[in-house]
Amino acid sequence: MEVVICDSPAAGAQLVADAIAELVARRPAAVLGLATGSTPEPVYDELARRRAAAAIDLSQVSAFLLDEYLGLPGDDPAAYRQVIERQVVAPLGIARDRVHGLDGMTDDPPRECAEYEAAIAAHGGVDLQLLGIGTDGHIGFNEPGSSLGSRTRIKTLTDQTRADNARFFGGDVDAVPPHVLTQGIGTIREARHLVLLAWGEAKADAVCGCVEGPVTSSVPATALQLHPHATIVLDRPAAAWLVRRAGYERTFSLKPSWQGL
Ligand code: PGA
Repeated sequence: MEVVICDSPAAGAQLVADAIAELVARRPAAVLGLATGSTPEPVYDELARRRAAAAIDLSQVSAFLLDEYLGLPGDDPAAYRQVIERQVVAPLGIARDRVHGLDGMTDDPPRECAEYEAAIAAHGGVDLQLLGIGTDGHIGFNEPGSSLGSRTRIKTLTDQTRADNARFFGGDVDAVPPHVLTQGIGTIREARHLVLLAWGEAKADAVCGCVEGPVTSSVPATALQLHPHATIVLDRPAAAWLVRRAGYERTFSLKPSWQGL
């Protein structure tokens, strides 16, 4: 794993946007894995700026969302499909019909999940997967205890995640659906490059477990330790608990200039 500690989320977003720009320059029809939540917003904002300046062309890219609330119609403002519509499809110019998400209104979750897995495979897999991390260590909506080999499936959210996400539902924790569909950890691990982002001290504990703790399903993000190309991009508060912080900073400062993330 490469741990990159940045001065600010905006600085981290520049690095991640550079990695996406490099990927798309090499492979215009690249497949991106998109995350929702507050964390990836600086990356989407930076990509939107570059698109407005005609510095990046994402028109041929395909994208797969990580997860979706079960029971929310696709046009509900809190549905991740709608979040991605607002933050990605329009501002980044990714074709709507190339953005794939799980159907939160499906009446057959196992079939929906199996078809989603098949669609990812039919696109040749995900080139670069953006990830946030929950304060409970989840990635996607794979809550603590999720199998590190799990596939796309239904999950039940922890009370902590529902409380964390109540801000997207007018502060009403009871409005946060208890069930979700999420790519599994095994599914996520098949992406060729995993880029996990975390900002702020509220994530410091989870980040420490993810990077320096033992690999365990109790902290699903530790699955990144098993991946051959995983990048962890942090601001200083999110990195505060890392014991080897100075070492990561030194290593990154000595990184060869030809080597991207
Ligand atoms: P956040 O959520 O970006 O809204 O903090 C991260 C996550 O739950 O993965």
